[in-house]
Amino acid sequence: MSIVILISGRGSNMRAILASRPAIAVAGVISNEPAAAGLETARALGIATAVVDHRGHAGREAFDAALAREIDAFGPELVVLAGFMRVLTARFVERYRGRLVNIHPSLLPAFPGLGTHRRALAAGVRIHGCTVHFVTPELDSGPIIAQAAVPVTASDTEETLAARVLAQEHRIYPQVVRWIGDGRVVLGDDGRVTVTGAGAAVGALACPALDGS
Ligand code: GRF
Repeated sequence: MSIVILISGRGSNMRAILASRPAIAVAGVISNEPAAAGLETARALGIATAVVDHRGHAGREAFDAALAREIDAFGPELVVLAGFMRVLTARFVERYRGRLVNIHPSLLPAFPGLGTHRRALAAGVRIHGCTVHFVTPELDSGPIIAQAAVPVTASDTEETLAARVLAQEHRIYPQVVRWIGDGRVVLGDDGRVTVTGAGAAVGALACPALDGS
């Protein structure tokens, strides 16, 4: 299965997917941001890149149409949003229905949108994490494929919490892409996802740690 990755910035999730073993066939990387650091990373690894600058288009429909043209030129079977910071139109999302995935830095449906780590700290949650999901027209609300949870510690700052979550993003995103490539991710009519052949996760995370008293 070949994929296209869409980025807007540093591209660390993109890098994790490019480093995945067994390898994932990445046909190209597209950024809406010409200065995205991730573009350099991709080029250095010999991956084809393209830029569709949102500033050069009059409105979301025009930008999304141009983006779709670039994506389709690579002929991917899956489109992977990895820190792609543009809201996509319903028309675009429909075009790639079931073939468009995103990673979000929270345990959805908690904290959709921006500023997830700051909001998690402000809410006082003890457990936070990340979610890989299919994209639907409504922001950060599509069918969930996989999540990873991390503890929130008393001394956490937005930065330390973001780093802890990001390390998990780099684990689950390549895994989900490989699962999809292997045909193991099934989206049911009820809008829920099954990953066939995946082992049940074991253990439980309690935070603060329980001391048995
Ligand atoms: C990640 O935290 C991702 O979950 C969010 O944006 C960030 C992108 O980071 N959507 P990177 O560009 O992959 O390093």
